[in-house]
Amino acid sequence: MRDRKPLISGPVSVINLLLISSVFLLGGCSKFNPAGPGPGNHPPEPGKLNPFEQNRKLGRGVNLGNALEAPFEGAWGVILEDWFFDRIKEGGFNSVRIPIRWSAHASATAPYNIDEMFLERVEWAVQQALSRNLLAIINMHHYEEIMQSPAAHKARFLGMWEQVARYFRNYPGELIFELLNEPNGALTPEIWNAYLDEAIQTIRKTNPGRTIMVGPGHWYDIEALQALQLPEDDRNIIVSFHYYSPFQFTHQGAEWVPGSDPWLGTSWNGTATEEQAIVDDLTHAANWSTANNRPLFLGEFGAIYKADMASRARWTAFVALTAESLGFSWSYWDFCANFAVFDKSTMDWHHPILDALQPVSNLLTVVR
Ligand code: BGC
Repeated sequence: MRDRKPLISGPVSVINLLLISSVFLLGGCSKFNPAGPGPGNHPPEPGKLNPFEQNRKLGRGVNLGNALEAPFEGAWGVILEDWFFDRIKEGGFNSVRIPIRWSAHASATAPYNIDEMFLERVEWAVQQALSRNLLAIINMHHYEEIMQSPAAHKARFLGMWEQVARYFRNYPGELIFELLNEPNGALTPEIWNAYLDEAIQTIRKTNPGRTIMVGPGHWYDIEALQALQLPEDDRNIIVSFHYYSPFQFTHQGAEWVPGSDPWLGTSWNGTATEEQAIVDDLTHAANWSTANNRPLFLGEFGAIYKADMASRARWTAFVALTAESLGFSWSYWDFCANFAVFDKSTMDWHHPILDALQPVSNLLTVVR
């Protein structure tokens, strides 16, 4: 189980705030009118997209972590800039997952209006991705309140999806909606099954042809896939799960994981036993995928910067290799924050991690 507190790393500085303002002033807000002509306007028609093909196109991705899912952009030290998307494209990636804390930008009471400026900021990020031929996943992330009091937040959850779905309804099929990151706590797998069904119905009113991504309860754990119930007749769905095992290795010293400091120094050496554990876990997920005829996306995996780089690279390469060999697409957590593949201070890749994320054919040198 992933027992975590909200992340509070990264200073909230005046510089960050100034940067945010300048992003807006320099044209961060697009003029796209969702109802009229725009860069989208070729929304996917119902029945047109094959979710297995969509998943294949997601390929190798990166999470733009610690930016739009922070309490406000910049609070956790990451403000999205257009060059992020250039570098991600140059790095050979196919997609970005954009975590978003809509709940911090919507009113508490019905109709739960989402701040227009924030919608435009998300739209800017989506356009940056799509204009570079990167698929984009937008999700609902860190909606902590619904994990604590599901019934009190259900209407707001659906109300926010109604707005987000309507706003982006004209966007092409390369934009994917992911319902809710890592349901947990009081939002049990059973309650989640009911809510996800209503959320899909809400989205389908304005986006009948869009690919929707859904993950299981219990923090998107592989074991929770068994309990996941999806609408049988809606096949335009990709199922996501997250993988951070061994947790004591990937989350050693993580500020948001109480008691994780004694784990510092844990390495991952790629012993036969260590590798077999990963193969077993991911094979379990693959078996679920086959039995249920749903494509699987490994939406987050990564090892924190506090682990030694050689271990991080070995683990990352082995997970990516295994995932790809089982037919999953994936998205590495994260671009330039705590698990970074890119180092903003040197403006260069963490090359061992980037190498570990290369296509299977290039991986053998890293794993061996
Ligand atoms: C959380 C991040 C966290 C990461 C690894 C994500 O789902 O949103 O805050 O850094 O998982 O634990």
